[in-house]
Amino acid sequence: MAIRKTKLRKVVIIGTGLVGTSYAYALLNQGVVNELVLIDLDQAKAEGEARDLNHGMAFGNPMRIKAGDYQECHNADLVVITAGANQKPGETRLDLVTKNAKIFKGIIEKVMDVDFQGIFVVATNPVDILTHLTREISGLPKERVIGSGTILDTARFRYLLGEHFEVDPRNVHAYIIGEHGDSELPVWSHVQIGGVPLSQYAGIDNFYQNQAMTEIFENVRDAAYHIIERKGATYYGIGLGLVRLTKAILNNENAILTVSAKLEGQYGLNDLYLGVPVLLNENGIREVIELELTKKENQQLHQSAEVIQEMIDTGMK
Ligand code: 2OP
Repeated sequence: MAIRKTKLRKVVIIGTGLVGTSYAYALLNQGVVNELVLIDLDQAKAEGEARDLNHGMAFGNPMRIKAGDYQECHNADLVVITAGANQKPGETRLDLVTKNAKIFKGIIEKVMDVDFQGIFVVATNPVDILTHLTREISGLPKERVIGSGTILDTARFRYLLGEHFEVDPRNVHAYIIGEHGDSELPVWSHVQIGGVPLSQYAGIDNFYQNQAMTEIFENVRDAAYHIIERKGATYYGIGLGLVRLTKAILNNENAILTVSAKLEGQYGLNDLYLGVPVLLNENGIREVIELELTKKENQQLHQSAEVIQEMIDTGMK
C-alpha cells in the first residue's frame, strides 16, 4: 500500500509579540498545523520564540516550528499578521491606524513578492482598516483576505451571557458585529439560548432598557480597555480566536464565525471591511451571512460603517 503523503498545512505568523506567540502556543497545543514559521523584524526574538516552542514539542502535538524569512510565505496556506504597534492605555484602536498602516505596506509587499497563493488573516488593530489595506495592497480576491474582526467580541459576549444565565457559552448563539472597537453592536434580536430567542428565554421586552443586558454589552465593548488597564495587553483570547479561525479554514469546516469581511451590497454597505458572520472554508470566505436586523441594529451598523469609512478616508492618507 502506498504511503499517503501528508498534506502540508503551513502557517506563517508575521509578528512575534504577545498576540503572535499566544496564537503559536495555542496552535502547538491544539495540533492544527504541521508547519509553523515565525517572522519578526527582530529575528533573534523570532528565533528565541521558535526554540522555546520547540522545547514543548514532546508535550504537545508534532509539528515543525522555526523562525524564517518572507520566502516562507511562498507555499503557506495562511499568513497571519499580528505585527504592529499595540494599543496603549487610553488609546483607541483607531488611534493606531496611521502607525500600523505604514508597517503593513512593507509587510504585504514582501509577502506578495514571493508569489503568495494562500489566505491572509489580519489580527493587528485597527483590524477592519488594516484588513481593507491588506486587500488593496495584495490585490488578492476578497475571499482570501480576512480580518479577525469581532470574533473575540462575539466570544466575550457569549461568555458573559453564559455566565449571567448559567448556560454553557457554546449553547449561547449571539453575534457582535460592526467595527472591532467602540462602535460595535450586539445583535440582540438574534440572541438564542439552545434555539430559544433570548427575549422569550429571559422574558426581556427591551434589551436596551434592561440594565443587566446593557452592562453585559458594555463589558464586551470595553473589555480590551479593562484588560489593558490591568495587564497592559490582551492576547490569550485573540490567540485562541485565531486558532478557531485557522481550523475553520484548514479543516474546510464551512463554519460560521464573525470576522472582518468585505461587504459588497450586504447590509446595504459597499466596499468596506467590518465584522459580520461569514461561512469559512478552505477557500476563505464562502459567503457573508446576512442577518435580518431590526431598524435600530441596522442604524447602529451603518453608524459603525461610517466610523470605519472616515478612518480610511483620513487615517490612511
Ligand atoms: C482586544 O479586543 C485589543 O483588540 C484587542 O482584546
